[in-house]
Amino acid sequence: MKVLFVFGTRPEGIKMAPIIKEIEKRHDLESYTCVTGQHREMLDQVLEIFDIKPDYDLNIFKKGQSLTDVTTKTLLGLEDILEELKPDILMVQGDTTTVFAAALAAFYKKIKIGHVEAGLRSGNLYSPYPEEANRKLTGVLANYHFAPTESNRENLLKEGYDDKNIFITGNTVIDALKYSVKEDFVFDDEILNNLDYNKEVVLLTAHRRENWGEPMENIFSAIRRVILERENVEIVFPIHLNPIVRSTAKKYFSDLDRVHLIEPLSYMPFSNLMARVKFVVTDSGGVQEEAPALGKPVLVLRNETERMEGVEAKTAKLVGTNSQDVYDSIINLLDDKNLYEKMSKAINPYGDGHAAKKIVNILEGMD
Ligand code: UD1
Ligand code: UDP
Repeated sequence: MKVLFVFGTRPEGIKMAPIIKEIEKRHDLESYTCVTGQHREMLDQVLEIFDIKPDYDLNIFKKGQSLTDVTTKTLLGLEDILEELKPDILMVQGDTTTVFAAALAAFYKKIKIGHVEAGLRSGNLYSPYPEEANRKLTGVLANYHFAPTESNRENLLKEGYDDKNIFITGNTVIDALKYSVKEDFVFDDEILNNLDYNKEVVLLTAHRRENWGEPMENIFSAIRRVILERENVEIVFPIHLNPIVRSTAKKYFSDLDRVHLIEPLSYMPFSNLMARVKFVVTDSGGVQEEAPALGKPVLVLRNETERMEGVEAKTAKLVGTNSQDVYDSIINLLDDKNLYEKMSKAINPYGDGHAAKKIVNILEGMD
């Protein structure tokens, strides 16, 4: 059986890597990797960490390109590759535009599709945007749905998918985390090595499209207020390469010494940083899954999330993007020791670290 993995962005790469590494150990499956290059530097960091050398690179990256550009370039780029390679199954992971476009390209060639991280739903088509739509559209086209959790499976059942095509596997992000986080990890970056992690060090990430503009301004002004009021707090913010995020971050933080604006971190330093900070403030999907596994409270800068497991386990809190709410939630977590203890318990609702093995076993068992 010939399996083609297609991915294009940082989080897809991190979550697909454990499956690619696992499949390389199995000699009965022939595997190929194609990156779209929706991301460039941020994707290349992942390829390097996991030592993945793609068989195909569509290299579609162009700064500031639109969703239509990503979709059409991926569709066109994959057409010849699928024609030539004729894979038995095309594997996609997650909810980006690469995922939807790759699934559509495979569907047009009547190639089977496996969707990893299937069944996540926020219930709002515009939040996260366009990811909620990408997930649903990919689900419609997919033949096999690898759902991280039971509640993801239930979402798919509610939409009428056949249970025999749904497999609960856990999320491969936990596999990746187990590979990367080490107690004796040393950062290359002196800022990160020299931070006093016994103090109030908070990790911030923000990039979501629906937060561009006013919501992001609200979030950053709340964080600015915290920094100006609390001398003990340090923020580390590896800024996403999106120019909109970067200019907003610089506007609010560039004059503040205790906000460390750094370049996007490669996965090893990023996950090890997460393991050391006091808590995490983020609108990221993957970070919402990783922080609870590391016992780090996570304040989620969104109005709704498709990852409710962490919220239900009370290690994650949905804060939204209202400035006062963001400010209050951070201050509460800094001041209320009981709340902090309750939110710091390590839980793993997203998997046990063996998701990749389970997925490859299922692929091996297919006709
Ligand atoms: C994309 C995904 C989002 C995912 C995120 C992970 C879509 C629509 N969005 O959002 O679901 O959560 O990746 O990070 O699929 N850029 C670079 N270099 C890079 C990457 C990005 O310069 O390596 C800049 C470019 O100007 C690019 C912009 O960031 O145009 C936005 O990139 P894009 O892939 O369109 O969307 P993201 O916001 O990264
Ligand atoms: N991440 C990273 N470096 C960073 C920020 C995040 O390696 O500077 C990792 C993080 O550990 C997680 C993934 O990137 O696995 C999340 O990616 P992102 O937030 O860009 O996308 P999302 O998960 O929201 O789609």
